[in-house]
Amino acid sequence: MTTAMCPGSFDPPTNGHIDLVERARAVFDRVIVAVIDNPSKRHMFTAAERADLFRVVFGDTVEVTTFSGLLVDHAREKGVDVIVKGIRTTADHEYETQMAHMNRHLSGIETMFLPTSPDVSFISSSLVKEVARLGGSITGLVPQAVELALKEKLQ
Ligand code: PNS
Repeated sequence: MTTAMCPGSFDPPTNGHIDLVERARAVFDRVIVAVIDNPSKRHMFTAAERADLFRVVFGDTVEVTTFSGLLVDHAREKGVDVIVKGIRTTADHEYETQMAHMNRHLSGIETMFLPTSPDVSFISSSLVKEVARLGGSITGLVPQAVELALKEKLQ
C-alpha cells in the first residue's frame, strides 16, 4: 500500500487543491491532506478550520491532519511514502524543487509533482482572498463550503 501526503497552507482550500487531492487519490492507495498549523503566520482561517473545510468536501474518503514543525517528521509519523505537490508555474517549480530536495535530504521521502489542471492553474489562495475582500466573485474558484466560510469571515 502506498501512502501519499498532500501538505500545504490551504488558506483557504481552492479548487486547485481539490483537483490535486482528487488526482492523487486516483494514483495512490491512501491520501492524507496535511494542513500546516503555523501560529507565526497570519492565516485567515485557523488550521482546524482549514482542515474542516477539506472534511466537508471529501467526507471520510480522505484523511485530513494538521501539523506543526517539520513536514517530514509528520510524514514519517503517518507512514507516508511520498509527498505530492501541485505545480502551476515555473516559480512553483523552482520553490518546490528546493523543498523536495531538502525533504529527501532530511528523511529520504521523495516528492512527486503533479501539474495542476489547466482550468484551475491560475487559482491561488491569496488571489482568492484578495478577490473576495474586494467584492469580486469567487464562484468556481473554491468549493461552495469555502465560499460560504470566506463570506462569513469577511462580514
Ligand atoms: O501551501 P504552501 O504554503 O506552499 O505549503 C508549504 C508547506 C506547508 C508545505 C511548507 O512550508 C512546509 O512543509 N512547512 C513545514 C516546515 C518544514 O518542513 N520546512 C522545511 C521544508 S523544506
